[in-house]
Amino acid sequence: MSVGIDDISFYTANFSLDLQELAANNGSDAAKYTVGIGQERMSVPGADEDVVTMAANACVPLLEGMAQRGEDANAINTILFATETGIDQSKAAGVYLHSLLKLNSRCRVVELKQACYSATAALQLATAWVARKPKEKVLVVASDIARYDRQTPGEATQGCGAVAIIVSANPRLVALDAETGIHTEDVMDFWRPNYRSTALVDGKYSTKVYLRCVRSAWQDFQQQSGLQFGDFDYFCYHLPFSRMAQKAHNHLANGNAHELSAQALEDQISSSLIYNRITGNSYTAAMYIGLISLLDNTAQDLAGKRVGFFSYGSGSVGEFFTGTLVVGYQDMLHQQSHQHMLASRKPLNYANYQQMYAFEVPTDGGDHAFAEQTNGKFRLAGISQHKRLYEVR
Ligand code: COA
Repeated sequence: MSVGIDDISFYTANFSLDLQELAANNGSDAAKYTVGIGQERMSVPGADEDVVTMAANACVPLLEGMAQRGEDANAINTILFATETGIDQSKAAGVYLHSLLKLNSRCRVVELKQACYSATAALQLATAWVARKPKEKVLVVASDIARYDRQTPGEATQGCGAVAIIVSANPRLVALDAETGIHTEDVMDFWRPNYRSTALVDGKYSTKVYLRCVRSAWQDFQQQSGLQFGDFDYFCYHLPFSRMAQKAHNHLANGNAHELSAQALEDQISSSLIYNRITGNSYTAAMYIGLISLLDNTAQDLAGKRVGFFSYGSGSVGEFFTGTLVVGYQDMLHQQSHQHMLASRKPLNYANYQQMYAFEVPTDGGDHAFAEQTNGKFRLAGISQHKRLYEVR
């Protein structure tokens, strides 16, 4: 029996800022963004979008697919919600999600945190549970809003998005191997104390730590699995910005892939970067949006191809793992809805972006209704007496 990803879909917010517009207004050279960090646009959330609404919207195609195929959604008895954009110190965001999706009450729900890494911890926990109870399915959700202070180097690497993954036995998309490589190291490269709404980052240092971590996790992975660089067809890396994957891939290839040309190395990652370039960073969701990008944007049949994944979360924890694409995986893709969603985003000018950036959920305990801005099925309608009020559109 194999265990892995049976279905996967993503969602991003309904507004976007072109980084040329950002550069024109902050004095940067646009090529620094488009070439230097490899980003074109960032998604910007409306006032009625948060990690719960994005997660719920990401889940819609999965549940519709199950209903169309006559599968029982009650098989989902665990939700693991990975985020570093927590909306509550106590209640798991996944409980709101569980309610919006009308899932069975016989379902355990928990939230996981370790910067951008926690979705991978969730995925690994999910595979272990499914291996033990193969009739059950786990819904893994990763949802984040990457937010930095204005006029800082991090500002151009903002973005947001959510991924929803069904983990099952005999998956129809990606069969995951049990062997993984892990590296943990206590460093302060990126963090967000509880009293801040924006992250603090030592950007250049974080890039160095990321590279050190990918090397160490890879070495551990090789020892555990016996696999070599040449055993892989494609790679998906954590994507704080798309150039980071290129740096990491070249770093890993150095000394491991003498026979591969620069173009062949680029071909192993380029399709995984397409969506990230236009959504921006989505922290926990980023690498998994990279996987969806690879699947949606590769015309050739990838069945039987081996993908290497490197998940990184500042602070820091990294994990290298692998999976193989299953025959017929194309039937499970949601390519058209992803591309329609991306194309439907409303472009912002700089003044609109500044206005939207300045919005914060009121903290006075009063009753506040939020303007309807999202196109998504689920929205944050307001807040009343410190309680978030979600609704279905
Ligand atoms: N044309 C083309 N490239 C240009 C350029 C131009 N006009 N101007 C600068 N660049 C290149 C630089 O040479 C550099 O390339 P390199 O990394 O290969 O050396 C790149 O663009 C970035 O320029 P830099 O001056 O280093 O940018 P920065 O000081 O604004 O910082 C980050 C970039 C990524 C560190 C910053 O955006 C950040 O802190 N991001 C958030 C943290 C993060 O994402 N960490 C990653 C690990 S999770």
